[in-house]
Amino acid sequence: LAGERILVVSNREPYIHSRKDGEIGVHRPASGLVTAVEPVMRACSGTWIAHGSGNADRETVDRHDRVRVPPDHPEYNLRRIWLTPEEEEGYYYGFANEGLWPLCHIAHVRPVFRTSDWHEYVKINQRFADAVVKEADGDDPVVLVQDYHFALLPGMIRKALPKATIITFWHIPWPNPESFGICPWREELLQGMLGSTILGFHTTFHCKNFLETVDRYLETRIGHDASTISCRGQLTMVESYPISIQWPPPWQGSLPPVHQTKGEILATLGLPADHLLGIGVDRMDYTKGILERFAAVERMFELHPELAGRFSFVQIAAPSRSALEEYRRFQERVHALAEQINGRFTRNGCPAIFLKAEHHEPDDINRYYRAADVCMVTSLHDGMNLVAKEYIAARDDEQGALVLSQFTGAAHELHEALIVNPYHVEQTAEALYQGLTMPEHEQRERMRSMRDLVRDFNVYRWAGRMLLDAARVRQREKLAA
Ligand code: G6P
Repeated sequence: LAGERILVVSNREPYIHSRKDGEIGVHRPASGLVTAVEPVMRACSGTWIAHGSGNADRETVDRHDRVRVPPDHPEYNLRRIWLTPEEEEGYYYGFANEGLWPLCHIAHVRPVFRTSDWHEYVKINQRFADAVVKEADGDDPVVLVQDYHFALLPGMIRKALPKATIITFWHIPWPNPESFGICPWREELLQGMLGSTILGFHTTFHCKNFLETVDRYLETRIGHDASTISCRGQLTMVESYPISIQWPPPWQGSLPPVHQTKGEILATLGLPADHLLGIGVDRMDYTKGILERFAAVERMFELHPELAGRFSFVQIAAPSRSALEEYRRFQERVHALAEQINGRFTRNGCPAIFLKAEHHEPDDINRYYRAADVCMVTSLHDGMNLVAKEYIAARDDEQGALVLSQFTGAAHELHEALIVNPYHVEQTAEALYQGLTMPEHEQRERMRSMRDLVRDFNVYRWAGRMLLDAARVRQREKLAA
């Protein structure tokens, strides 16, 4: 694919411009998708098409709605698509986040499917497809479609550009056929996705669920051995590509030693120098298991009261989708539970939980990772979860322990983590305690092996494998033509 200009399509944009106190600033959103795809885009250049969501986004684009990014050393184009509040409401909040998000996460939040949201979803998918056609140089572009906001996009692009190579990556889990089957537009969604040349999920388990779902609801030919689906003359390869992070990490070699960072963080929090710290970093989302995590922290204090006043848990929770009632209610419950636990286990002015429910820049988060004795990832269901991998990357001192939910894609790879069922409070509490009391040599052994894995299977390998598979198919198709 050397020399090809790559088009990426996602809902969330990698850089958001906003105006505050008269000044325009730019920030990176909290999004696993953006964390993973951004370094790849910087390496390949090309154009990233996304929803312009910042209140100063319009002021920073040219007359084609494009802006060069990253802002301080531009390497690729960001082409922004504008949505009205009604369009955002129906397509993004409604169908994508009240329908598909809970549908695919099996998070015990009942999916909501409104016909009006579906119509917006179809309309906005078409708008992005039109933008792809406009941004494409020739009739056979390479397009990388990202996530559940765009299930229909591959089919729409295929219709307009039959020779396009379309790689679609689904960043969230794919449920079993029964669960997916409650969606009133299941056939349309599946049909749309099968416009892809390659369809990627994080795990083979999600691929299997997808093949079974297609088998159940569409008339297609499925090649179970080769993991291919043939539908209306289009062959789609379904494959697992576990997503990852940039390696070496961008800050490599430029950070102060861990003990210094830990000292600074503890001082900022008003904690003594020998205090133990846990860290959780998430969007404020009901799939992340934040309440279950707090319950485990509370249980750990009940089982090991000597740690009250000696250990605190820092939860960073970036505000997310707060226009939705479900998310607002969840946020209230998280605050209330943190307060309740602090009421029980604050000792000598050291709170049990620090809840930081605001946006943090990556550098800041990295400092917390480096200061924390244990990182807790307790998602109730998660495609991959990159926080687990970021924590490992941050620990170049080979110390620290990771408590990891078995329901994340990451648990399929990071076997040296302390794997838990987040619904099992006792087990998660014990794992937290085990992490806090783990001998240094054991931390080193586990961390080393996890770091080896993340180094070898980094985000360039994720993208590289997909692009290589796409290049093979493209060559085969060209030979056959
Ligand atoms: C998940 C999704 C991404 C999304 C991110 C942040 O990681 O898979 O597509 O960008 O959450 O959510 P938001 O709705 O703010 O984009």
